[in-house]
Amino acid sequence: MAYFYRDGKLKVGTETAFADVAELARPQGRPTYIYDIGDIEKRLRAYDAAFKGLNTAIHYAVKANSNPSILKRLAQWGAGVDTVSAGEVKKAIAAGFAPSKIIFSGVAKTKAEIEYAVTQGIKQLNVESPAELKRIVATCRALGKTVDVAFRMNPDVDPKTHPYITTGFRENKFGMDESFLPELLATLRESKDVVRLRGLTMHIGSLLFDLDVLQEAVEKTIAVHKRFEAEGFALDRFDIGGGLGIRYETDDTSEEFAMLATYGERLTAVFKKHFGADVSSKLEILTEPGRILVARSGLLVSEVQYIKKAPAKTFAIVDTGMHHLLRPALYQAKHRVLPIEERKSSAGESYDIVGPICESSDVLAKNVALPLLDEGDLLGFADSGAYGFAMASSYNSHEFPVELIVENGRASRA
Ligand code: LLP
Repeated sequence: MAYFYRDGKLKVGTETAFADVAELARPQGRPTYIYDIGDIEKRLRAYDAAFKGLNTAIHYAVKANSNPSILKRLAQWGAGVDTVSAGEVKKAIAAGFAPSKIIFSGVAKTKAEIEYAVTQGIKQLNVESPAELKRIVATCRALGKTVDVAFRMNPDVDPKTHPYITTGFRENKFGMDESFLPELLATLRESKDVVRLRGLTMHIGSLLFDLDVLQEAVEKTIAVHKRFEAEGFALDRFDIGGGLGIRYETDDTSEEFAMLATYGERLTAVFKKHFGADVSSKLEILTEPGRILVARSGLLVSEVQYIKKAPAKTFAIVDTGMHHLLRPALYQAKHRVLPIEERKSSAGESYDIVGPICESSDVLAKNVALPLLDEGDLLGFADSGAYGFAMASSYNSHEFPVELIVENGRASRA
């Protein structure tokens, strides 16, 4: 567990190598994201283990957390990355990822971004529309370069997650269905000199728990893969995307580890069923996990500025808010609120934890029961390692939070 209480104080790390959260955060003097690197490594290993029966490449979704120290470690541990902008490709290269470990997804790649990615010689461009494919072909011709691509399919499934993070439903802007095939095939056939189709890719959404829907999406995409093979294309990759969720309401991580293991087992069986027991010699299976690798590693620590007892509510007003952790405002997400130094007194109160931003959506948590709070107390927002700092802004001209990395009980500025 990345965060745990010892003698009433919140610690980060493992039972044998940990640091005290308050001692790390107080001297920073402003909101601070803390990341436990060991937790990320443990999860990367678990992901690898879940897919040990296949020839798998993990491409961490940089959008979840692009902290340079985290990227650097992931590169050292042998992971690849999934990127969605030239900026992310640049960050990945700066962190030590070889271009051959980088794939580039996204619906709106500009000419300049395609040029940059092709010039760097990245592993694969995940193509989201026939128009994008044409732009890639023209760019490669102009540059005199070749590129490997995968087509992102939209399998039209309902992954039963928040509508803002559903991506594989027919009304979403992502991917393509089979009606796009004639146009894609025509473009491919006239551009074999510059573009090579390596496989298909899919990603149906984020914060997913329903493995039946994930399996259905993979099987639908396998059917399209077979169609491309029937058209004479020898495909040797299949990208299953990311999306596995965590239960934000609890610190019990056993369900997500069990789900990951079952997900790996089920998809291994699916690929063996459709491609034979020797699938590993035919197909590289790419994965794009984000949240499940980094969410639990992160804690956003803030300081209580004021307690305000209004007739309807008691507010704990803190120095962080929707500008640093947008998820509660945007998706009504619930991050557990952890007192950093537990109080001995059993007295408590129900608080709305709100930030400094001039919007009524700037609520980090509603009606949370906490020990009595005071000005200067520290509060942590749990499981904020994914889509936390990554979605932060300087709205209202506030500073960005500090980021600290904790490794083997020692902290450094990330
Ligand atoms: N691959 C692609 C193409 C993606 O678009 C995403 C996430 C991932 C992989 C990684 O998904 P993950 O394993 O992290 O679920 N801001 C939202 C999540 C947005 C996810 C966007 N795409 C949130 O805070 O819940």
